Amino acid sequence: MRRAKISIIGAGNVGATCAHWAASKELGDIVLVDIPQVEGMPQGKALDLFESSPVEGFDSKIIGATNYEPTVGSDVVIVTAGVARKPGMSRDDLISINTKIVKDVAENVARHSPNAVMIVVSNPLDAMVYVAWKASGFLSYHPDRCCSRAPSTAGGSLPPSDVSLLGSQISIRAVSLRSEVAAVCAWCRHLFVFVRCA
Ligand SMILES: NC(=O)c1ccc[n+]([C@@H]2O[C@H](COP(=O)([O-])OP(=O)(O)OC[C@H]3O[C@@H](n4cnc5c(N)ncnc54)[C@H](O)[C@@H]3O)[C@@H](O)[C@H]2O)c1
Repeated sequence: MRRAKISIIGAGNVGATCAHWAASKELGDIVLVDIPQVEGMPQGKALDLFESSPVEGFDSKIIGATNYEPTVGSDVVIVTAGVARKPGMSRDDLISINTKIVKDVAENVARHSPNAVMIVVSNPLDAMVYVAWKASGFLSYHPDRCCSRAPSTAGGSLPPSDVSLLGSQISIRAVSLRSEVAAVCAWCRHLFVFVRCA
């Protein structure tokens, strides 16, 4: 059976942590992408993780890159690119910076992995989810659809029907940083998933 291909765009704190968890749970092979200005950084983080695999006992492949070519045909793309909030900043302060970043990322994701599930983590999350949806051009937006189902993803019961939106802090954390991501990867191929929860 073909292994899932998971691309993580933004190899910073959240992206690298996400790669760590996804690899350690063998959710698929992983591509960690960042910008050309930090050439070597995503490759180095990926190599460090990959070289821990014999010790930790997982067999996911992990590579780093500063372009989208290695992401082609990804099943899941997790968007963690952007500027993180600094002391004194509100998440809304991030809008103008991260809108440009997420727009660029979403366009690239749509071009290279048109059938992927895309999970947006970048803040301010609700706004970035909207930006990603508009920029990608191939997504369905059903903000209520998965709200009641979100908690059930831990049991792997998220149906492989069409899509939903993952858009809340709680849902994103649940999906990207805990075992629920396995359910999403397994069930939501070809979907763009967001869940909007209170
Ligand atoms: N939704 C949540 O629950 C949640 C939780 C934590 C952080 N966040 C958000 O996630 C984002 C990342 O946080 P972090 O702590 O990892 O920040 P970070 O600064 O450690 O990492 C961000 C990375 O994105 C990269 N990047 C910038 N522009 C890019 C582009 N166009 N393409 C690819 N990569 C690009 C940067 O070079 C950097 O390595 C922030 O917006 C933060 O607010 C969301």
